[in-house]
Amino acid sequence: MQDLAGKVAFITGGGSGVALGQAKVFAEEALMKVVIADVRQDHLDAAMSYFAAKNLPVHPIHLDITDRAAYARAADEAEEFFGPVQLLCNTAGVSQFGPLEQATYDDWDWQIDVNLKGLVNGVQTFLPRIIKHGDGGHIVNTASMSAFVAVPRASIYTTTKFAIRGYSEALRAELGKYNIGVSILCPGAVNTNIHESVLARPDKYGKTGYYGADPEVFKQLKAVISGGFDPVDLGRVVMNAVKRDEFWILPYPEFVGTIEKEAAEVIAAMHQYDDHTDTIRRKKLREETGQRMPGTVE
Ligand code: NAI
Repeated sequence: MQDLAGKVAFITGGGSGVALGQAKVFAEEALMKVVIADVRQDHLDAAMSYFAAKNLPVHPIHLDITDRAAYARAADEAEEFFGPVQLLCNTAGVSQFGPLEQATYDDWDWQIDVNLKGLVNGVQTFLPRIIKHGDGGHIVNTASMSAFVAVPRASIYTTTKFAIRGYSEALRAELGKYNIGVSILCPGAVNTNIHESVLARPDKYGKTGYYGADPEVFKQLKAVISGGFDPVDLGRVVMNAVKRDEFWILPYPEFVGTIEKEAAEVIAAMHQYDDHTDTIRRKKLREETGQRMPGTVE
């Protein structure tokens, strides 16, 4: 989508952090109409005091993205308020870290429900609407460098972010025919409020093996992200990627070495089987029939 002015963006988690940075850039610089949807009313209120002071076309909706019926109502409200949505930013996400062996099912369910299923809910809600209005559109899914790199104590979060990467690549493969672009944003650190994620954790996921609202843990986590990207600067990176229809949004070149190492490991693991009898049999079969496995390039 090269021309964003006047179009409508729906941004989840828009009351804080990465998503609020996106909302500011899409409203102020891209001149879009923006819906910010967030489960925390205090985040929405603080964000709206910023947008109202600048008289920007931003509409807040209180939404828990894990609630599918509420998501459909939020989409209706967005369309009634601003008209059809062209840009969906699936940005809301949560994290809580700790050793895998201490994780409860509630720890798993909360992060999977918000980070992965909440993001799927966004696409399930808006994709048919974007296809129907026929003007094309764009979906930006926020994953993380944890979609590439597994570090200890972040296993649940990492699992959700790897899944978002798989889902986003699948969307890219499927949506081109509808003139709907797809991007995946994979931040390293961003200076946000994610260190306090657990404050938005609903009671129904109450049993945790990890920390709760612990100011000492919040302080340690904030120290890790405070040197990260400014959310507005990151929002600009996202805006430019949407305009250029870029799939990968990876403004963290300090991870290149890690990814090169992983790719080399995977490729070496495959090359071990170059001379295996079944590799030779399959190659001969392909030559005879011309049939290839989807996803292979030769
Ligand atoms: P944040 O905590 O500042 O903002 C997240 C917003 O999402 C909050 O306003 C929160 O209330 C909202 N939210 C949480 N659960 C929700 C739900 N069920 N429904 C609707 N809204 C909900 O955190 P941040 O950092 O801005 O996170 C945004 C995304 O960026 C997440 O997907 C996160 O995984 C990702 N990310 C952040 C990094 C960082 O260093 N801050 C690094 C890599 C990825």
